[in-house]
Amino acid sequence: MIRGLMLVVAGLSLQIEVPAPATDPAPVDQQKPASPPPGSAPADGKHELFQQKCSTCHGLDVAETQSHTADEWREIVARMRGNGLTVSDDEAGEIVSFLADKHGAS
Ligand code: HEC
Repeated sequence: MIRGLMLVVAGLSLQIEVPAPATDPAPVDQQKPASPPPGSAPADGKHELFQQKCSTCHGLDVAETQSHTADEWREIVARMRGNGLTVSDDEAGEIVSFLADKHGAS
């Protein structure tokens, strides 16, 4: 009984055994850093975050043409969150620090 069953199982496994294709697995090349697009400034995370988050409702110039202290930018970003901007607290902080740095009031 058991022996017969094992024969059947062996037969089944012989039937469904398919030879593996003889191709090599695709080379994994994840070490290579993505090169920045030619002619662009080196990637700046904060700047990118600002461009990404602050350009969905209005142009970036709305913010770029203004100068504010860090506190004022913090208030503006908080107001933008009220307008519907979705950022984490960390991201909001990064954007505020970018704006205070590049578009700060002296
Ligand atoms: C969900 C839509 C939305 C997003 C995203 C958004 N804004 Fe705004 N923004 C508005 C609206 C609506 C106004 C006009 C009403 C107001 O001033 O609150 C505005 C106005 C402004 C103004 C002019 C305010 C003034 O008093 O002159 C600035 C500066 C500004 N946004 C900066 C930003 C910055 C910086 C970001 C990214 C952190 C951002 N916005 C993202 C909707 C948005």
